[in-house]
Amino acid sequence: MPAVIIVGTQWGDEGKGRVVDWMTAQADLVARYGGGDNAGHTVTVGEERFALHLVPSGILYPNKLCLMGAGMVISPARLSIEMDDLAARGVDVSPDRLKISVGAHLILPYHIVLDGALEAGRGKGAIGTTKRGIGPAYTDKSARIGLRAGAMRDPEDFAEKVYQAVEDKNRLINRVYGQAMLDSQDIAAEYCDYARRLKPYLTDVSLVIQQALEEGQMLLCEGAQGTLLDLNHGTYPFVTSSSPIAGGALTGLGFGPRHVTQVIGVSKAYTTRVGAGPFVTELTGTQGEKLRGTGANPWDEFGTTTGRPRRCGWLDAVILRYAVRVNGLTHMALTKLDILSGFETVKIAIAYDYRGERLEHLPLDAEVLAECRPIYEELPGWSEDIRDVRSLDALPAAARRYIARVETLTGVPVMLIGVGPGREQAILP
Ligand code: GDP
Ligand code: IMO
Ligand code: MG
Repeated sequence: MPAVIIVGTQWGDEGKGRVVDWMTAQADLVARYGGGDNAGHTVTVGEERFALHLVPSGILYPNKLCLMGAGMVISPARLSIEMDDLAARGVDVSPDRLKISVGAHLILPYHIVLDGALEAGRGKGAIGTTKRGIGPAYTDKSARIGLRAGAMRDPEDFAEKVYQAVEDKNRLINRVYGQAMLDSQDIAAEYCDYARRLKPYLTDVSLVIQQALEEGQMLLCEGAQGTLLDLNHGTYPFVTSSSPIAGGALTGLGFGPRHVTQVIGVSKAYTTRVGAGPFVTELTGTQGEKLRGTGANPWDEFGTTTGRPRRCGWLDAVILRYAVRVNGLTHMALTKLDILSGFETVKIAIAYDYRGERLEHLPLDAEVLAECRPIYEELPGWSEDIRDVRSLDALPAAARRYIARVETLTGVPVMLIGVGPGREQAILP
C-alpha cells in the first residue's frame, strides 16, 4: 500500500513532469494534489513533447488511473482544451482514465480578471503570477464562497450558480477595480456545457485512493509548483496560494501519512525562478544567460505556461536542506545536469551572509532573504557533453563529484540524474 510523493524543491519547473513520467511505470494511480493550470509539466516521449497543465502526467501511460484532487483549483475551460488537445494526439482521456474530485474548486472567468487587476494594483510589488486566476480562486475557497467541482453534477443548477456568482463578482470587478463587467448569461451557458461534459468524471477521489491502497496498489502523487512557492512555507508573499509541499499531498488528496513510503524532491542541477521575489544565487550576466539558453531548445529556461524567461542561478544547498526538512525528503532527483557542461567551474551556495552574519538555514522573511548574499563553494566543472551517458561511472569525474557533494550537503541520496529531457535520458545510480 505505498504512496510516493514527488515534490519540487525550488521555485517550480524542476522537471517534476519528467520524474513523474519515469516513476509512473511502477505506479497504478497518478494524482495531482494542488494548484491549477499555473503548472506546466513537460514530458518528452521519443520525438513527442507534451506540456500538461491540469491533467496528471500519468495520462501518457495507457493503463494508469489519473486523479485530480480536492486541493486543486480547476478551470473547466482550460481542462476542456487540455483534454481535447490530448485526445487529438491519441491519448485516452475518458472517465475510465481520469477522475476529478468533487471537492476541487473551480476557476471561473472572474478569477482571471481579478488576478490581472490585483497584479496591476500591486505595481512594483507585483508577484508575477501566471494570471490564471489561482490566487482569487483559493481566496474564494478560504472565504467559503467558492464553487466546487461537485456542483457540476447538476448542470442546470450549476448554470444558475455560475450566473449568480458572476453577477456578484461583477460589482467588485466594476466598482472596485474599474474593469468591464462580464456577461453572466453567456458565461452561465458556456459553463453549463462544461458541466455536461465533465459530470462523468466527478468522484470522491479520497475514496478511490483508499480502496486502491487497501488493494496494495501504488499511488504516485504529482506535486506542482515547488517548496519555496508554498503558501505556508515559501518566500511569502512571492508564493502561490496552494500547498505544493509533501504535506499538501495528504490534505489535497485525503489520505493519511502512514501510507507514504518515499518522498522524492526534484531539483535542477542549478536554480531557476519565474516571477518576482528574492533569489540569492541569481546570475544576471553571461553565466545566467548560458544557463537560460537562447530559447532555441525546448528545454531552455522559458516558462512552459507563460513563455516568460526564467531567472537562473547556481544551485543553492540552503534551499535544498530546507526542502529536505519541510517535505521529509527520502530521495532527490537531480535534473538538467547536462546544462552544466561547459562551465570551467561550478558553484553551490552552502550558506548565506546576512549583514555579516553567517546563516545556515533559510530565513523565512522574504525581506531578510532579499538581503542575503551567497557563500559559495566552487567545484571544478566539466566540458564533456553528457547527454548520452547512462551510467554514473561513465560521467566525467567532476560531474560525479558534483552529485556526491549535493548528497553530502543535503544528507539525501540522489536516485535519478537527468541528462536530457527524454524518457531514457536518465542515470539511475
Ligand atoms: P516541471 O514544471 O517541474 O514539470 O518542469 P517544466 O516542464 O516546467 O520544466 C522543465 C524543463 O526541463 C522541460 O522543458 C523539460 O523537458 C526539461 N527537462 C527535464 N529534465 C531535463 C534534463 O535532465 N535535461 C534537460 N536538458 N532538460 C530537462
Ligand atoms: P510548475 O508546476 C514555476 C509562480 C508564478 C509566480 C507565483 C504565483 O510548472 O512547477 P500564481 O499564478 O500561482 O498565483 O503565481 O508562482 N508559479 C510557478 N513557477 N512553475 C510553476 O508550476 C508555477 N506555478 C506558479 O510564476 O511567481
Ligand atoms: Mg513547469
